[in-house]
Amino acid sequence: MIDFSDPGFQADPYPALAAARERTAVFPLEDPKGTGATIWFLTRYDDVYAAQRDRRLGRIRGSRPTREELGLPADRPDLDAYFAVERWSLLMLEPPDHTRLRRLVAREFTAKRIADLRPTISAHADRFLDEALERGEFDLLADYAQPYSVHVIAELLGAPTEDWRRMLEWSHAIVKMYELGRTDAQVEGAVRASVEFDRWCRDLIDDRRAHPSDDLISGLCTVETDEGRLSDDEIVSTMILLLNAGHEATVNTMGNGMTALLQRPEQWRRVVTGEVPAAVAVEEMIRFDPPLQLFERWIREGGVEYGGRPLPKGDKLAMLFGSANRDPRHFAEPDVFDVARGDASHVTFGGGIHFCLGAPLARLELDVAVERLAARCPELALAAPPRRTPTFVIHGYEAVDVTAG
Ligand code: HEM
Repeated sequence: MIDFSDPGFQADPYPALAAARERTAVFPLEDPKGTGATIWFLTRYDDVYAAQRDRRLGRIRGSRPTREELGLPADRPDLDAYFAVERWSLLMLEPPDHTRLRRLVAREFTAKRIADLRPTISAHADRFLDEALERGEFDLLADYAQPYSVHVIAELLGAPTEDWRRMLEWSHAIVKMYELGRTDAQVEGAVRASVEFDRWCRDLIDDRRAHPSDDLISGLCTVETDEGRLSDDEIVSTMILLLNAGHEATVNTMGNGMTALLQRPEQWRRVVTGEVPAAVAVEEMIRFDPPLQLFERWIREGGVEYGGRPLPKGDKLAMLFGSANRDPRHFAEPDVFDVARGDASHVTFGGGIHFCLGAPLARLELDVAVERLAARCPELALAAPPRRTPTFVIHGYEAVDVTAG
């Protein structure tokens, strides 16, 4: 029904998603990762919203992720480094491990703690804007959003910010594994990045054990829970998840959302004049063109039914976030980018036990980034039509070249 690898679809998935959504609430496809399962794609808002919270569905089939679930062939032990890094990722855990690890990390990401970071985050935004504005024409992603967002999350964890480019490259390589299909070269790139990232994390863990400070990494290294200390493998997976999730989607939301805004100069003006607060504009940026288009679940129990169709235990279900966010059954005129809409009921941050831990941080970073742009370059305009990255799940642009005016 949809060719997910078609560059035209990846560039603008919404017409095909709309056609699929109007035709059916759910459609099947054989899993391109070779698990032998059928994937059932949900196209409508109510179903995606319910599936995010449905405890009969899980990120993994059993109690721990298998190589197969991560898309790794059984006969390739050389790819184990990637497997090891994902093994203790919150995204791949179910209770009770998920509850235990998430509780520890969540303490650092409460709305209050994040709100207190505003002055520090604003300083980062201004610093990278200073450098970009000196050039006049710049790439909103490479010159502003990426260094900004990686610095914010690295500083929050207590990771050395001078390594920000390496963190960015490792992350880009690893998230290729989240696509529905990927090449051998992409799998090998993800494995190489996992080996290097893992080694870098372990050095940092050794350092913090020797010289603890009050940062998040030191906290993970020294925390005592009822079950004892965290293992090094658990700490590495958590560090890598936070460092990757902490910028990939935020940067792509900036690129996707600012492109939508600048393509509609009258809406950008409403932000520049202060008629629409940046925080309100950001909510529509997050809804309109989400940076993560699809999340999968395993059907772990019988009796699951979506879109009026019984879905067999042992199959997979895929939630199409971009489609849900454009469902006219939930949003009025969903294809209209309305900068003042301010409707936070979109599905972009997920829901249920895996609800995005970084949502308050992402919202704050985007709010500050847009607010600084509006204040410092009100005449901002696209210098050229931006080019899409050739992926679907991670949905963004290669570059968004702009002129400060
Ligand atoms: C606009 C930016 C962001 C978007 C759209 C986004 C989206 C999501 C989504 C959809 C999930 C749930 C996945 C699922 O249901 O399987 C998730 C989980 C997660 N996100 Fe975000 N995220 C963003 C930014 C961030 C940031 C800045 C952080 C910083 C730490 C972060 C950390 C996490 C973590 C740790 C999880 C796993 C939670 C769990 O499994 O319990 N995210 N995110």
